[in-house]
Amino acid sequence: MDAKTSILDIQTVAKTRINEVDFDNLQFGKQYADHMMYCDFIDGEWQQPKIVPYGPMTFQPSAKVFHYGQAVFEGMKAFKDDDDQVWLFRPEENFKRINLSSQRMAIPEFPKDYFFESLNTLLELDKDWVKKGKGNSLYIRPFAIATEAGVSASEANEYRFMIITCPAQAYYNKPVKVVFAQEYSRAADGGVGFAKAAGNYGAQFYPTKLAKEKGLDQIIWTDASSHEYLEEAGTMNIFFRIGNQLLTAPTNDRILDGVTRKSIIQLAKDEGVEVIVDRVSVKQIVEAAKSGELKEIFGAGTAATVVRVEGFEHDGVYHDLPEVEQPYATHFKNKLQDIQYNRADDAHQWRYKV
Ligand SMILES: Cc1ncc(COP(=O)(O)O)c(C=O)c1O
Repeated sequence: MDAKTSILDIQTVAKTRINEVDFDNLQFGKQYADHMMYCDFIDGEWQQPKIVPYGPMTFQPSAKVFHYGQAVFEGMKAFKDDDDQVWLFRPEENFKRINLSSQRMAIPEFPKDYFFESLNTLLELDKDWVKKGKGNSLYIRPFAIATEAGVSASEANEYRFMIITCPAQAYYNKPVKVVFAQEYSRAADGGVGFAKAAGNYGAQFYPTKLAKEKGLDQIIWTDASSHEYLEEAGTMNIFFRIGNQLLTAPTNDRILDGVTRKSIIQLAKDEGVEVIVDRVSVKQIVEAAKSGELKEIFGAGTAATVVRVEGFEHDGVYHDLPEVEQPYATHFKNKLQDIQYNRADDAHQWRYKV
């Protein structure tokens, strides 16, 4: 390896598994690329990051992550352009966000050079796992867990930071039906909603399971105290189009500051679309749906990019959304993907060359 990767200890696979993978029929998150990175925090410092073949790891049953959920993660993607060059999209944002999440969960922050050297090396080693063509990507999952053994309820002294990657096609390939939350909550003021803390996701599974039993795909979470304001979906921020205005909730300590969300806000503003970042009330959306002014709802997030919402349930009533001509959802999805796949000008320098 060249000097660029000298801070890593690298052990490569004897034989790639890539030929065992059917890239045309991928199930999201089921197959992982050849290599992964891990780095331990011991004696008050992060040790040398190691790149090793992807595979199982052993931990003490008493490791604190299993008992207290001291864990954070990120989700990002690598894209390949028509000339086989691999790109990341705004990775600095993910780096900053995982350390923000870590801080909230009392996990030590991870060094920037370790993060970027690891990413670059992993993507160089596993570049054949990044497939060309819109919708194809290599999903990247950095995460950190408390590995110290011992069930005493306090923050750990030992952690493991890891990066694993998996090839992905479009995450949700069909529009989704959602329900506005009226009973359960995802996050509270002063809580960890803004962090990508593992427990935020585990806590959503039960209410989401109930929604699925009713034929709905996802929940749009509302504020925990009144359930009157729409906040975000389980893994996506949410946009509403009323007339030609685009509305989305402001981020706060309950809402994840999504990279896709802020990119769409910027792209929309660049085009002169009026974007209103303000509280969005359930009442306003239900009324706009009834009057026909509500043109679109869509989710925005790394895994899915942009997903159209085809209808929503509230108070037991299901509201169908019209299929509009030239939807913002498709327009901004294409705009974003053109930048991600190096097919368009990158006015804001969001692309990062691996
Ligand atoms: C709760 C939540 N909201 C929003 C998002 C979208 O964020 P991003 O666009 O950075 O992927 C995600 C996914 O990371 C998420 O988990």
